[in-house]
Amino acid sequence: MKKFLSLPDVFLVLALICCSSWTVWSSSSCKQINIKEVRPHSVSITEFGAVGDGITLNTKAFQNAIFYLNSYADKGGAKLFVPAGRWLTGSFDLISHLTLWLDKDAVILGSTNSEDWPVVDPLPSYGRGRELPGGRHRSLIYGCNLTDVIITGNNGTIDGQGSIWWSKFRNKTLDHTRPHLVELINSTEVLISNATFLNSPFWTIHPVYCSNVTVQNVTIIVPFGSPNTDGIDPDSSDNVCIEDCYISTGDDLISIKSGWDEYGISFGRPSTNISIHRLTGRTTSAGIAIGSEMSGGVSEVYAEDIYIFDSKSAIRIKTSPGSLVYMESIQMTHMTEMLYL
Ligand SMILES: *[C@@H]1O[C@H](CO)[C@@H](O)[C@H](O)[C@H]1NC(C)=O
Ligand SMILES: *[C@@H]1O[C@H](CO)[C@@H](O)[C@H](O)[C@H]1NC(C)=O
Ligand SMILES: *[C@@H]1O[C@H](CO)[C@@H](O)[C@H](O)[C@H]1NC(C)=O
Ligand SMILES: *[C@@H]1O[C@H](CO)[C@@H](O)[C@H](O)[C@H]1NC(C)=O
Ligand SMILES: *[C@@H]1O[C@H](CO)[C@@H](O)[C@H](O)[C@H]1NC(C)=O
Ligand SMILES: *[C@@H]1O[C@H](CO)[C@@H](O)[C@H](O)[C@H]1NC(C)=O
Ligand SMILES: *[C@@H]1O[C@H](CO)[C@@H](O)[C@H](O)[C@H]1NC(C)=O
Ligand SMILES: *[C@@H]1O[C@H](CO)[C@@H](O)[C@H](O)[C@H]1NC(C)=O
Repeated sequence: MKKFLSLPDVFLVLALICCSSWTVWSSSSCKQINIKEVRPHSVSITEFGAVGDGITLNTKAFQNAIFYLNSYADKGGAKLFVPAGRWLTGSFDLISHLTLWLDKDAVILGSTNSEDWPVVDPLPSYGRGRELPGGRHRSLIYGCNLTDVIITGNNGTIDGQGSIWWSKFRNKTLDHTRPHLVELINSTEVLISNATFLNSPFWTIHPVYCSNVTVQNVTIIVPFGSPNTDGIDPDSSDNVCIEDCYISTGDDLISIKSGWDEYGISFGRPSTNISIHRLTGRTTSAGIAIGSEMSGGVSEVYAEDIYIFDSKSAIRIKTSPGSLVYMESIQMTHMTEMLYL
């Protein structure tokens, strides 16, 4: 075990930065967004033939269950219950007015066959895959144009089994850009809470072109040294609130982005009004990063009560040539960086 030394010289308190007007940031909790707590309809994934043995591929069961639940979207929505078990699956799509509920000891396991993660178009604000030209693999849990979508439960787990992707990245045998674990595109009223996310192939939670996103009480763990495995990446999104999370990854814990190069500039959607409360984590990279892809601009970032262990920098602002349009009103308070020796 490493020993924590709480000596003043390794205990840095950074109270940082304001670029435009300084306003006192006192609210310490995410305002609850308008989210349905109770869904009138609920089914279990087992009713659709899923087998939780860690071997049987359940992609069809997830797709069929969600297709069935779509008929309840205009009746208050529905809940897909995932009981204890190891549920191997390829990528599947969420729908509006859905709660994906993972019970204690439920583990959704990402398939280790890349064909189970189909290739989709690049995002318009990136113009190409982040790692290779052309398309990119779709995230394990994917959603586009949604409203009122919840991923929660009793601390169940979504495990991307990313090591196969990290090796392909390292030995340069990827055909397309690696997938994220959870990606929501152009969606609103999103809640991700009370769950654990492990071993993402690439970024872990990626809300892009989204509004009104809350991430609460989640644990994200990806091994040190795994490539580009950020925790949460709000990207060209607004009104994002992240609180009470523990994140330990191979790259940045939270990275705020807004597209890449001329694509990000012409798409022109900034990330704004991003709040982070009570984040604890470990990384050899940055605790909270802004950029490097921020061609659409970043503003109104508030972070407080941040405890980062072992990081290269608690806060890092990264730009790449030609990418910075603007960045304003960044406030960070009560940020503690601790080093294990
Ligand atoms: C985003 O989703 C909304 C609602 O589904 C849709 O009307 C809109 O066209 C979508 N925008 C883009 C850029 O896809
Ligand atoms: C999202 O909405 C846009 C605009 O309406 C549409 O072009 C696109 O096909 C939709 N995407 C999905 C996956 O529904
Ligand atoms: C966080 O999640 C755990 C496990 O799901 C739960 O026991 C605890 O009550 C949650 N805490 C909050 C503040 O929601
Ligand atoms: C949730 O489960 C993860 C992994 O099993 C564990 O590390 C974490 O402490 C649990 N979180 C809560 C809030 O119980
Ligand atoms: C690269 O890594 C993948 C995943 O581990 C492996 O299947 C493949 O054989 C490796 N290829 C080379 C050329 O090393
Ligand atoms: C998290 O779980 C706790 C304990 O079950 C519950 O009180 C809380 O409302 C949940 N929070 C969210 C945001 O789902
Ligand atoms: C986001 O939430 C605010 C405040 O509740 C609401 O006024 C706004 O319409 C929501 N935005 C979207 C795109 O749903
Ligand atoms: C900023 O986002 C929060 C949700 O995190 C929301 O409650 C608040 O209304 C937003 N502020 C503005 C000015 O839109």
